[in-house]
Amino acid sequence: MNSLVRRSAQQLSLWRTYCIKHNASEAASPGRNAGRPNYEEFIGRHQRQAQCSIVVQVSSEKSYEELYNYCSSFGSIMGAHHYCVRQDETLHYILLEYATSDEAAAAIGAGVTNGELSGVPVRSPFLWFRAAGGGRRSPKLVANTAPALLSLDGTRQVDQRHLLGLLRGAADIEEQVQQLYEHTRLNELGIRMRFLAALQVQQAIAGMFPAAQAQPFGSSVNGFGRMGCDLDLILRFDSDMGAKIPLEAAVPSRLVYHTKENLSNGRSQTQRHMECFGDMLHLFLPGVCHVRRILQARVPIIKYHHEHLDLEVDLSMSNLTGFYMSELLYMFGEMDPRVRPLTFTIRRWAQTCGLTNPSPGRWISNFSLTCLVMFFLQQLRQPILPTIGALAKAAEPGDSRVTEDGINCTFTRNVDRLGFRSRNQSSLSELLLQFFEFYSQFDFHNRAISLNEGKPLSKPDHSAMYIVNPLEQLLNVSKNVSLEECERLRIEVRNAAWVLESEVENASVPEGDGQELSCGLLNLFKHPEKAVIRPNMFFKPRMVEVSDLFEQKEAGATSSSTPPT
Ligand code: GTP
Ligand code: MG
Repeated sequence: MNSLVRRSAQQLSLWRTYCIKHNASEAASPGRNAGRPNYEEFIGRHQRQAQCSIVVQVSSEKSYEELYNYCSSFGSIMGAHHYCVRQDETLHYILLEYATSDEAAAAIGAGVTNGELSGVPVRSPFLWFRAAGGGRRSPKLVANTAPALLSLDGTRQVDQRHLLGLLRGAADIEEQVQQLYEHTRLNELGIRMRFLAALQVQQAIAGMFPAAQAQPFGSSVNGFGRMGCDLDLILRFDSDMGAKIPLEAAVPSRLVYHTKENLSNGRSQTQRHMECFGDMLHLFLPGVCHVRRILQARVPIIKYHHEHLDLEVDLSMSNLTGFYMSELLYMFGEMDPRVRPLTFTIRRWAQTCGLTNPSPGRWISNFSLTCLVMFFLQQLRQPILPTIGALAKAAEPGDSRVTEDGINCTFTRNVDRLGFRSRNQSSLSELLLQFFEFYSQFDFHNRAISLNEGKPLSKPDHSAMYIVNPLEQLLNVSKNVSLEECERLRIEVRNAAWVLESEVENASVPEGDGQELSCGLLNLFKHPEKAVIRPNMFFKPRMVEVSDLFEQKEAGATSSSTPPT
């Protein structure tokens, strides 16, 4: 452990590198995010971007110049991103962003259905670009040179071999952690595409529900998402996300809408609405396919795939706490530039040794694992993150959020109000090792993890792992984790601590002593035997509903798209 202690000058220089890379001023860190957008601003900016954007399928990136010239007739194009969807063949798309939403609407409004091949004539931001001469005459164009594409094949995930090369070439574990984060996190184009998927759903019901909101949450927006992560979406019929409107601001109108009566059982009503939405998505929305309804879950969801965005979507209508939990995680990620790279590394490590698994089951979820990291950072002698209790205490009246089921999601949205400043200057490799050491000694048997308190509490029941749900404190986030999986976690963190300790010791041996070059993080990710036989693989995925099978059988009928020219 002593060998890990670096000179403070070196740490300070690392700190500066983080600050430069993350666009944060040194004065603003740690503990502050002055000048950086808060969650609502971040969400708002991406929602506006989505309203100004269209996605056009093209035959290849070579069509860009022609598309740019054609689409410029509807407004000023501010940026263009190219990406591919790889199915049996490679499909090419270009996302264009206009200066205003009216211009994007004009481009969408100018779209036509494809004559005799037309499908259900729904308008959406998803279009394709056909060859000149087909159908109506093109508007007269002045050929402009298109500015360079902002991304080419912009959603391609980093090749594993390339990533390995980068990690091998890194100077130390610090750099490896940063490289892993930079090369695997969800990029700007990925975020834009997720907000477009949300907008499509919102616009689809805007006629009946003009104030409807489809809000992305989870790893797509909390800053902990990797490339290819799913999109968690919450759909609300009105713009009420639980924020309390101050009484003086509410102007009582004398005109009151006639409405349908609510069913007495709110859950049944949500399930009925979702069933109906499932049909609507399946039958009408371009790109939406493989719609599955999972309505008996604690939070009923509709799952679907978006073929033009190459995206898995989980849509819910009653998960506001998930939305606010994402805000808390976003804030934690913004408060200190070490939080996200550290969490990425730990999530990657857990995936490599089979502790996490994309399908839900009796193993720890990425969300619970992220909570373990946040708790670790709170309980340090020099904490890097404040407790959620402290965030709640610093709330102002404008921060009040109460969901319709009465769950209080009130906490300060202005971290500066907290006056929290971390004096912890540990490097990422130190923190990584400390994380593994901390959980290899943690008394999961008797203690619960509370992010609200930032310290362990007595366990209120016999669950193998107990993480107090920060927003519903009577619930356990990790209730699903079995005793066997909890034990495996303890074994794996112990192994990881051991591996990392030896890595750091090797790294301290001067080069040229006949020692093998240390691989740092790579040794943490070496689990070839587990990649073949993982205990998780013996558990069956959750039962498929009959309605799911029905949906899957019909899934092929969802697309009416025709290959573009
Ligand atoms: P990946 O999808 O694995 O990349 O991570 P994720 O963070 O998106 O996790 P997931 O899709 O399982 O959940 C989406 C979001 O819902 C999380 O980020 C949390 O904000 C929230 N969430 C998930 N589980 C819980 C829970 O048990 N309690 C609360 N309050 N929120 C939860
Ligand atoms: Mg998710």
